[in-house]
Amino acid sequence: MKTWWKEAVGYQIYPRTFYDANGDGIGDLKGITLKLDYLKALGVDLLWIGPFFKSPMDDNGYDVSDYYAVDPIFGTLDDARELIQEAHQRGLRIILDLVLNHTSDEHPWFIEARRNQESEEHSYYIWKKGRINAQGQRIPPTNWSSFFSDSAWCYNEATDEYYMKIFSEKMPDLNWAEPKLRERMMEVARFWLDEGVDGFRVDAVAHLAKDLRFEDSTMPLDAQGNAPDWSKFSNLPALFDYLDELKDQVLRHYDIVTVGEVGGGASPDMALNYADAQTGAFNMVFTFDHCWANGISAGTVSFPEQVKTDVIALKKTFAAWYDGLHERAWLPVYWLNHDHPRVVSQYGDPVHYHKPSAKMLCNTLYLMYGTPFMYNGEEIGMTNVDYTELPDFQDVWVKNLYEGVKDQYPLAVLMDHFRRTSRDNARTPMQWSAAPNAGFSTQTPVSKVNGNYRAINVEAQDQDPDSILNHYRAVLKLRKSAEYKPVFIEGEFALLDEDHPDVFAYRRVNSGKTIFVVSNFTGKDTEYTIPARHVRCLLSSYPDSHPQPPKLILRPFESVVLDVLE
Ligand code: BGC
Repeated sequence: MKTWWKEAVGYQIYPRTFYDANGDGIGDLKGITLKLDYLKALGVDLLWIGPFFKSPMDDNGYDVSDYYAVDPIFGTLDDARELIQEAHQRGLRIILDLVLNHTSDEHPWFIEARRNQESEEHSYYIWKKGRINAQGQRIPPTNWSSFFSDSAWCYNEATDEYYMKIFSEKMPDLNWAEPKLRERMMEVARFWLDEGVDGFRVDAVAHLAKDLRFEDSTMPLDAQGNAPDWSKFSNLPALFDYLDELKDQVLRHYDIVTVGEVGGGASPDMALNYADAQTGAFNMVFTFDHCWANGISAGTVSFPEQVKTDVIALKKTFAAWYDGLHERAWLPVYWLNHDHPRVVSQYGDPVHYHKPSAKMLCNTLYLMYGTPFMYNGEEIGMTNVDYTELPDFQDVWVKNLYEGVKDQYPLAVLMDHFRRTSRDNARTPMQWSAAPNAGFSTQTPVSKVNGNYRAINVEAQDQDPDSILNHYRAVLKLRKSAEYKPVFIEGEFALLDEDHPDVFAYRRVNSGKTIFVVSNFTGKDTEYTIPARHVRCLLSSYPDSHPQPPKLILRPFESVVLDVLE
């Protein structure tokens, strides 16, 4: 079935560091409105805007204390309405982050719940008595770890209970087994849809149901003494009943797009439970599977020698999601979001081959099957941070991990790990120009600007025909052109030589058109033979590519998009 969101190109905005219109050092909704023309000209048409609701900002807004109010640092409800209206006038749609798994501990529900065991609000959260260990100390009800490297439980003095929190202790988990709570959350979704938004990215949705047996995990404990056993609160059967209810009562009544975020915890098979076109609650799901194909992940301390892109694993991951889903479900594709390092640092080479590697990554992803989502700054090749001081990092995950392992590793090793993996990498101010603070704000920004902004910024790239930004514009234009749209939107996708260790090559085919995208993922010259002799080169990551098939000599990070003529 044809729907608008299959043809859309998404663009994720991290409001805190996108553009500051009111000069307080923090990005805001008016700032986003001011950049709508830029986004339109880029060629994207579906904006995913990260949380801007009232929040104490322990997790940069994913800890919501009022779902119906805009946090004053971002503006007002009227600013949100203006943004929605201005976007719609330009033919841009907007989806919001819907945070259903937890609230802030400063949400009025939790304030009441933690004080009063008899209140209705108490039933909105998950409570358990603690245990006493052999040394007579009080310990949490289970040994489960949170995602942010500490226990999944936090003690509440007033009721002598622990509450569950699978992220930070300021983010108590909601109790979806409670029907009244479910109704409260559906009201939130309806409110924003009635305000005119075009759908949601549903945050951390795999975790709404918990294993209510609350038994210790038998998994080995991590460095902090907890078991990182996500099966205790991921993809459990009751979750799908809750999602059916959400679909039935709310989602199906609107012409919207919904993307459930399932993190790293769902296989393609499992994803069908969320996004099957007939039976799923959502239109697609975001997986993290392809984000860490270089041997490292944010939660476990890594060393530079471990880092090498596993091109085969990367290809197979994309192919497994396509193979597993495309006949029954739609899928999104993306390189990074606000939870991941910058992709040009992760899989490219920002030091030696910044431009070709950023362009190569663009070709590879944006011509694949699925709705692509760009992350702000990706289109100019923004890189991981150059921070040298620990306090420059603000992410709660960095703070928790540091506290847990600081006695086991030298600071230099941890700093290196954070520069490579931390979520702060993607959260620095958007680099608009070479002006102070990267043109993001007239004040010192809320998070430190990456020092390379004078070289890497929108203004400089806008005028340069060979820039990364203009390459992104060209790729999106090709994807949307009348001639090529059918092959890029509907054409089948197949890897070529999936066991080739250096080249990521694939074919798109649709009624008479065949396209090859061939990308060298390494910093060395590579030969690659394609099964075609006559081609037209539509795009390349170098300004002077002259592919002579069948044998292609690819320079470092060279990537070509070839229309097969025979
Ligand atoms: C979001 C994270 C957030 C977490 C808790 C996620 O998966 O993308 O940024 O920390 O949910 O809300």
